[in-house]
Amino acid sequence: MYPDADILFTRRSIRKYQKDKPISDDLLRFILNAAMCAPSARNKQPWHFLVTRDRKKLDLLSELHPYGKMLKEATMAIMVCGDIILEERESAIALDGAAATQNLLLAAHAAGLGAVWLGMYPRKERTEAMRKVFDYPENIIPVSLISIGYPAEEKPRNNNFKPERIHLEKWGETL
Ligand SMILES: Cc1cc2nc3c(=O)[nH]c(=O)nc-3n(C[C@H](O)[C@H](O)[C@H](O)COP(=O)(O)O)c2cc1C
Repeated sequence: MYPDADILFTRRSIRKYQKDKPISDDLLRFILNAAMCAPSARNKQPWHFLVTRDRKKLDLLSELHPYGKMLKEATMAIMVCGDIILEERESAIALDGAAATQNLLLAAHAAGLGAVWLGMYPRKERTEAMRKVFDYPENIIPVSLISIGYPAEEKPRNNNFKPERIHLEKWGETL
């Protein structure tokens, strides 16, 4: 309906990537800029982004994340984190980090990249395992891990719309 909004409907989780197609610093800056444009509670913007394009680190991440095997083929991974010094409420860190993650996924898709959100928060065993790779300080809380590369798979546009989940004025009255 609105062509500018098409990326919202065509973004899908991409888990297969083209080999040997690097992601430039300019492109990395673009997707991180988009992530940092996300809304955040009281506009604290408590996020940090740990980025790796190092093959050894990506391989290690693929072994450490229980559902992260696609990282073995990925060109880059970004761990979206929150800083408990900047935002003392852990619940807000999780929500702000989720908003930043979604912005990042949409920007990556708009730029022709493929990406998938890998769950981190609130699983301590996953976040502690990642400490081996990123060596982040105690005040940092990982929220998500994003696996990224140029896509080597195509998926149909999203078809999730369910009118029965909409409650117009009162429960059960749909649009
Ligand atoms: C909080 C969260 C955690 C997720 N964790 C994983 C994961 O560990 N591994 C994975 O392959 N996909 C993961 N996903 C991606 C979902 O599987 C995916 O978004 C969902 O199947 C819908 O597919 P779509 O993104 O293509 O619309 C996660 C998504 C979210 C929001």
